[in-house]
Amino acid sequence: MMFAGKRILVTGAATGIGRATAEHLVAQGAMVFGAGLDGEEGKALAARYAGDKFIFRETDLTREIEVRAAVAEAAERFGGLDAVVNCAGIYPTGKRLEELSDEDWDRTVAVNLTAIFRICRATLPLLRAAGGGSIVNIASVHADATVPGVPAYAATKAAVVGLSRQMALDYAVDRIRVNAVLVGSVATRMTLDGLEAAGGAEALGLSFEPNRIARIANPSEIATAIGFLISDASSFVTGSAMQVDGGLLARLL
Ligand SMILES: NC(=O)c1ccc[n+]([C@@H]2O[C@H](COP(=O)([O-])OP(=O)(O)OC[C@H]3O[C@@H](n4cnc5c(N)ncnc54)[C@H](O)[C@@H]3O)[C@@H](O)[C@H]2O)c1
Repeated sequence: MMFAGKRILVTGAATGIGRATAEHLVAQGAMVFGAGLDGEEGKALAARYAGDKFIFRETDLTREIEVRAAVAEAAERFGGLDAVVNCAGIYPTGKRLEELSDEDWDRTVAVNLTAIFRICRATLPLLRAAGGGSIVNIASVHADATVPGVPAYAATKAAVVGLSRQMALDYAVDRIRVNAVLVGSVATRMTLDGLEAAGGAEALGLSFEPNRIARIANPSEIATAIGFLISDASSFVTGSAMQVDGGLLARLL
């Protein structure tokens, strides 16, 4: 039980990578507070667990008041927090910069970046009070190398890496580690919708075949990497941008 007694907040926990992360952490003994949209899926997942192993609160992370309320409920139910996984995100595609409205831009920044700032601002005092902790921010390979038509997404994911590094420096004194994860292609709603729009996996040089570089991962393969960054096994890892991408960034063509 790698996470026995650990109290962990996971955003975007109703679906995809956030959900797989919540399931992995609970299976290893953690108590997880999920905050995000997709409330039906989140509550259905919570119903599978007894007691306070997994609690889900429907939360629009673009609304500061909802962020505060979710963090306050997590702190009250668990008596504090030991770790935070910022996983919620959106991937709007198909527009070059000139075609983006202010609303398109603001929405992506609000979900992918400002929500992380607000969650961290609200949870840092709790991690400090617990004597330290770990924050894992889900970025993307798009922070380092991208594809046409996702300017706001690429910009926000690069910013998540910069923010994580900065926080690692500022909060080492409180024994709080902060890392970003550069996630490759994962079989979640986000990817499957994008693949359909792009004409399938092969059209993008991606594959579900297990023996291929840059294959499409199962969400559980990202969850275990996130678990490593939360666990004491990564006690010397902070300020990093860890690639969990099946070799996608290693491939030139
Ligand atoms: N799937 C991939 O290939 C891939 C690759 C790189 C990075 N990522 C990142 O992984 C993270 C999870 O994505 P996923 O692939 O699991 O997709 P997903 O669509 O299943 O999950 C995104 C989650 O974010 C939540 N969310 C969206 N807007 C929100 C808001 N305003 N308030 C609260 N919650 C909100 C959704 O409810 C959902 O649960 C994202 O940050 C994404 O950018 C995914």
